[in-house]
Amino acid sequence: MAVTRTFSIIKPDATRRNLTGAVTKMLEEAGLRVVASKRIQMSEDQAKKFYEVHAERPFYGELVAFMTSGPVVVQVLEGEDAVKRNRDVMGATNPADAEEGTIRKAFAESIEANSVHGSDSDENAATEIAFFFSDDEIVG
Ligand code: CDP
Ligand code: MG
Repeated sequence: MAVTRTFSIIKPDATRRNLTGAVTKMLEEAGLRVVASKRIQMSEDQAKKFYEVHAERPFYGELVAFMTSGPVVVQVLEGEDAVKRNRDVMGATNPADAEEGTIRKAFAESIEANSVHGSDSDENAATEIAFFFSDDEIVG
């Protein structure tokens, strides 16, 4: 399995509860390395664009409002099969379905305020990384 990169967001529900370190610890323990990280306040335009794929879904407006409700930490993670590794440690979208040992089981408040984002394919990972980071901000 090759070493690849994925994109992660620690969402406003987690930064509000001071869980940036706790979430990152679980990512690291899952074999992922943080090779870029910054705490930002996402603008409405950024959140709309980032979640454009969900524009027709009923939760889109609320999701944009939630993602701009407080600071987030955007990160690039590197590791063996990083996209799947991250999705596995994140757990299911709905914390009610998330397995023990996952970030969402441990920390998510609801299906919306579910503490973390993770890319769902290598192609989307590359797009999402480029959306928030320039090459010189990523140090592997
Ligand atoms: O984040 P993940 O890839 O697991 O799920 P998604 O289907 O790509 O949805 C993106 C985000 O939209 C979720 O992480 C939730 O924050 C939110 N969402 C929601 O508010 N209500 C839903 N029924 C589904 C997703
Ligand atoms: Mg998704």
